Amino acid sequence: MGVVALVPAAGRGERLGYGMPKALVPVAGVPLLVRAVRGLFESGCVRHVVIAAPPSDVDVVNTVTAPLAPAGGAVHVVPGGAERSDSVRSALVHALRAIPGTTVVLVHDAARAFTPPEVVRAVVEAVRAGNPAVVPVLPVVDTVKEVDAGGLVVATPDRSALRVVQTPQGFDARVLLRAHEAASSATDDAGLVERLGVKVATVPGHQDAMKITTPFDLAVAEALLAGGGA
Ligand code: CTP
Ligand code: MG
Repeated sequence: MGVVALVPAAGRGERLGYGMPKALVPVAGVPLLVRAVRGLFESGCVRHVVIAAPPSDVDVVNTVTAPLAPAGGAVHVVPGGAERSDSVRSALVHALRAIPGTTVVLVHDAARAFTPPEVVRAVVEAVRAGNPAVVPVLPVVDTVKEVDAGGLVVATPDRSALRVVQTPQGFDARVLLRAHEAASSATDDAGLVERLGVKVATVPGHQDAMKITTPFDLAVAEALLAGGGA
């Protein structure tokens, strides 16, 4: 059963404010995208990766990621789109057209560059066990409030029933294609699949799979690396 990882990496990284696309920002000299793709291959269950790159950086992304592919595998690079979901859709369409036997797909943010390979394996195993959609999750540590447009609290959801969602998210490839054909936008791919009425399963995520969004997150990643973590 072929597992192909789609890596949306075409964002501008505006909240990080580094002056270049976030995927190319180095941590200890190694771009986030390179770390993310390396982690996928290190899981041992991914042979092909399709990266949605910033359209003006397709060549440089090709150059830095092509050497990461294992024997019998490859890195494919396509231009990303205006929204994350456009980038995922482009990568998915490429995978289904160009990589024979694509039955399971992972969608993994380049910004989650320090995701441990065991999280990748857990997601793939859960899809292989028959779940059409799988997301890694963590418990919510803060109490969460729902507020109205004026900032007044309207509800306090039961925290024990809430989860923070990470990537890689794993899917039956045909289910993800149907979800992307049916809807245009969501903050994660499982959200699109939920709208089809398909059940989404969860597996334990990991703190190191945090999304690098702000300069604070980058500082945390650098500190973890310096301390021998991540
Ligand atoms: N992404 C993408 N195509 C887009 C927007 C985002 O492939 N049009 C990717 C990003 O490169 C990132 C992931 O989706 O790997 C999650 O997005 P986010 O963390 O929001 O990254 P950016 O959009 O780059 O950051 P910002 O929103 O701060 O500009
Ligand atoms: Mg964004």
